[in-house]
Parts: sequence; C-alpha cells; structure tokens
Amino acid sequence: MTEPQHDDIYHHAALYDLAFSYRDYVAEVDFLLAAMTQQGKALPSSVLELGAGPARHALECARRGIKAVALDASAAMVAYGLELARQAELDLNYVQADMRNFTLAEPVDLALLMIDSASYLLSQSDFCQHLTTVAAHLRPGGVYILELSHPKDFLTPELSVETAWEMAAGETRVHFQWGETGDVFDPISQTTQVTVKLKAETPQGPVALTDSAAQRCYTYQEILALLALQGDFKLAASYGGFKLEMGLSDQRAWRMILVLERKEARLPASG
Ligand SMILES: C[S@@+](CC[C@H](N)C(=O)[O-])C[C@H]1O[C@@H](n2cnc3c(N)ncnc32)[C@H](O)[C@@H]1O
Repeated sequence: MTEPQHDDIYHHAALYDLAFSYRDYVAEVDFLLAAMTQQGKALPSSVLELGAGPARHALECARRGIKAVALDASAAMVAYGLELARQAELDLNYVQADMRNFTLAEPVDLALLMIDSASYLLSQSDFCQHLTTVAAHLRPGGVYILELSHPKDFLTPELSVETAWEMAAGETRVHFQWGETGDVFDPISQTTQVTVKLKAETPQGPVALTDSAAQRCYTYQEILALLALQGDFKLAASYGGFKLEMGLSDQRAWRMILVLERKEARLPASG
C-alpha cells in the first residue's frame, strides 16, 4: 500500500484527535442517523467509517449498539482508534487499507466519510474507483454519507472554517495550521499542495512538524456527474451542515454533506 498523504501528521494520532475534538460527535452521529431515516430507511445495524482517523463516529455508533468497522491507510490511526475502543470497552473492527480498494467480509447498511477525507481521492478515476469499492460493501438500498468541504471555501474568497486553531487538554496543548498562503493550486488536477503545520507542547516534550501533500476539491455538479458516470449511487439529499433544515445554499452553510443511496443491484441485460 502506498503511504497516505500527510502521513507525518496522521502519525501523531493523539494530537490530531485533540486538535479535532472541537466537534460534537454525539450530535453529528444523531444527524447522520436522522439523515438516513429521513430517506425512509431503518436505523442501520452496521456501519463502516472510511478514512476514519481516530474513528470517533464509528465508536459513537458502536456505543449505540451498531456493529462498527473503521478503515484507514495510516497504521498509527488504526492503532490509536483500537486503543480508544479498548479503553471505552467498545467493539470496533479497524482495518488498515486504502479506501479506493479494500475487501471486507460483510456488507454494511451505512458507510460514512467525515471531515473531507475524500480530498485524498486525487483524481476523478480515484473517486469512481472508491465509489465502486464502497458500493460493493453496501447492502442494496444502503446509504453512503460524505462530509466534504463547502464549495464556497475554494470557489469564493469566503472561508467558512478556521484554518488555524489551538486546543488543549491537561498538560497537552496543540496548534494546527491547515494550508498557508502560497500553497500551489494545480488547475489541471484540481488539487492543491496543502501545507499542514503542527506544533504541540506535551508531557513528553515539544512536537513541531510541517507536512505537505496534495488534496483535491470537489464541486456539487462534479460529484453529480461522477455519480452518473460510475452508476451505483443516486444522490438522495444534500445538507450545508449537521442540521436537517440547513440546505447547501443556506447562508449559514459551512459543509457539503451528501447522502448517497446505493441503487438496487443492476439487472443483467436480457437477450
Ligand atoms: C482529515 S482525516 C479525517 C479523520 C476522521 N474521519 C475524522 O473525522 O477526524 C483524513 C484521514 O484519511 C486517511 N486517509 C488518507 N488517504 C487515505 C486512503 N487512500 N485510504 C484510507 N484512508 C486514507 C488519513 O490517514 C486520515 O486518517
């Protein structure tokens, strides 16, 4: 397996987890399950979180009695997520694999991809290959929910999220900067070489590192076209944040959350 992008950053799994702990995982999972039932689906009995990192959403699902699988390319994230599960006494099957190409024993009802892990799918063919692999692991009628950056973040000067922030817990303080002026955007591949800076004070000493890797931006229209091209999914709903009443065009919208429904199995052409 090729080394995942920004692997030096993801190697510091506990610091990543602290930096991104400003999120309310309980409320986000409430929303994700409500978005699924909004489509007339039953609550899932199994879930797969892709590009899962610390797997906080999978763990919250496990806490609710949903059979949870997480998948990530980073060995450090897998080890960290398993340790969180062990501490919380939750069952989590955590697989180290590439989200474009993996094999799991059983299909699931719901797949999740949170906080723009899809930006590491660096081409349209990677995105379609990923959809094909996810579809093969979803039950017919199953749902795939992706949380992506809001398109206004890269198509307009308006930024809806902070790109530099600090979090602290106990004796650990971590400062993250995601992207910097001068990061180069390639208009052909639609990727940016994104500089990420991590600085931390920890009981074991200071940490300071800079990592640079490509991330790709996806627009709503492009994803519609890719869904039509790939064929296994239809777009069932879109949201601008973790609220059912917030559409993508809402002035307060700050994320692009897409609910994809796996189509029923395609019938073989009759002679
Ligand atoms: C921004 S983090 C998101 C982590 C987690 N979903 C969250 O909500 O905090 C992106 C994650 O995607 C993983 N990743 C990147 N490329 C991947 C790939 N091709 N296959 C699987 N995981 C990948 C990284 O290792 C990292 O853990």
